[in-house]
Amino acid sequence: MGESYKIVLNNTNENEKADLSFINQDETKKAQKFHASFPQYEVTPLVELKNLSKMFGVKNIFVKDESYRFGLNAFKVLGGSYAIGKYIADKLGMDIDDLPFEKLTSKEVKDKLGDITFITATDGNHGRGVAWASHELKQKCIVLMPSGSSLERRDNIRALGAKCDIMDGLNYDDCVRLANKYAEEEGYVMVQDTAWEGYEKIPTWIIQGYSTLAKEAEDQLLELGEKVTHIFVQAGVGSFATGVTGYFSSIFPGDEKPFIGVVEPEKANCNFITAKANDGKIHNVTGEMDTIMAGLACGEPVTVGWPILKSYADAFLSVPDASAARGMRILGNPLKGDERIISGESGAATFGAISEILQRDDLLEIKKELKLDENSVILFFSTEGDTDFVHYRQVVWDGYYTNKENYNYKIMR
Ligand SMILES: Cc1ncc(COP(=O)(O)O)c(C=O)c1O
Repeated sequence: MGESYKIVLNNTNENEKADLSFINQDETKKAQKFHASFPQYEVTPLVELKNLSKMFGVKNIFVKDESYRFGLNAFKVLGGSYAIGKYIADKLGMDIDDLPFEKLTSKEVKDKLGDITFITATDGNHGRGVAWASHELKQKCIVLMPSGSSLERRDNIRALGAKCDIMDGLNYDDCVRLANKYAEEEGYVMVQDTAWEGYEKIPTWIIQGYSTLAKEAEDQLLELGEKVTHIFVQAGVGSFATGVTGYFSSIFPGDEKPFIGVVEPEKANCNFITAKANDGKIHNVTGEMDTIMAGLACGEPVTVGWPILKSYADAFLSVPDASAARGMRILGNPLKGDERIISGESGAATFGAISEILQRDDLLEIKKELKLDENSVILFFSTEGDTDFVHYRQVVWDGYYTNKENYNYKIMR
């Protein structure tokens, strides 16, 4: 079992590090200002798991609960909405600072823009965010979902007025290519949360949009007087991880920066294998990518984000589905006195993996490599709630994906 947890440590030299010109404090400030103009905007809760941290033998654990984001049960709308805002600002020759929600959704702006169709591919959360933003702007939206996607996630997107279909036989990366083909043929605007050569502007804005939640977490921690030593981020293509890593690296230069770990499912560990190969090339995972962490089932690292992760992430982890399921169960069934968090498969991926690493003797080496000890203050992002309502309950109530290995958990008291 232990061997399905894999780690690669990063050791990029200081002088080889990518510059943070597109993801930094100033860019994040703009993104947060934009999001704060939405009537739905509220800072999502940062939950302190004090009792659990004692049991796990670390100083403190914080989980930012993105299930509260705009009533959409996931953080993803931060990226899609910001990219659409930036696209429109560009088109109108304006600065995003002068285009708050009220203006963006005004008749005046709609008349100037005319009809636009936004198109994207998604496992669910990103598409729901793009559909939501399109709906608010009274524009059209088309969403393609990979084979095997959850019908509930599809229906949530359709409920926002988008045309949304599950594409038989196509995985996430195939859907991205097909959506791009439609965009080129029909003049649709592609709002994709990943980049490739020649398609970098919108994904860059998406990364900047995600960083709003990093800034919120930083402010919340400051208010509590807490200094994090470790941040763990889950990665599909790695745009979210880039937003968080870039932001925290820009505010904490050099040794001040917390240890940042990027976590991926073993079936879709494209950033992990790219870090492992360490040959200056990006490496893809292909095929079905059959993991319960649907949001992380992406095989191609985001090209604009990779240099930031390569430079500033300290470790890349590849973990089994059972760890995410365990994370969902622990967060949904907390120790007495700790708050409950409803965290979905991709949301609980980092927390679940670290929960195993902190408790299992056969993973002690990884714990050491992550520099986790009794002084650690760890920040996780629960990036989604129960976005697949039925599967969430199968995991949390009925014990799907339970780790059947017979091992002893270490309990510190
Ligand atoms: C809930 C959730 N968490 C994390 C991610 C990972 O984001 P990225 O693909 O930018 O790495 C996704 C992506 O869809 C997601 O839906």
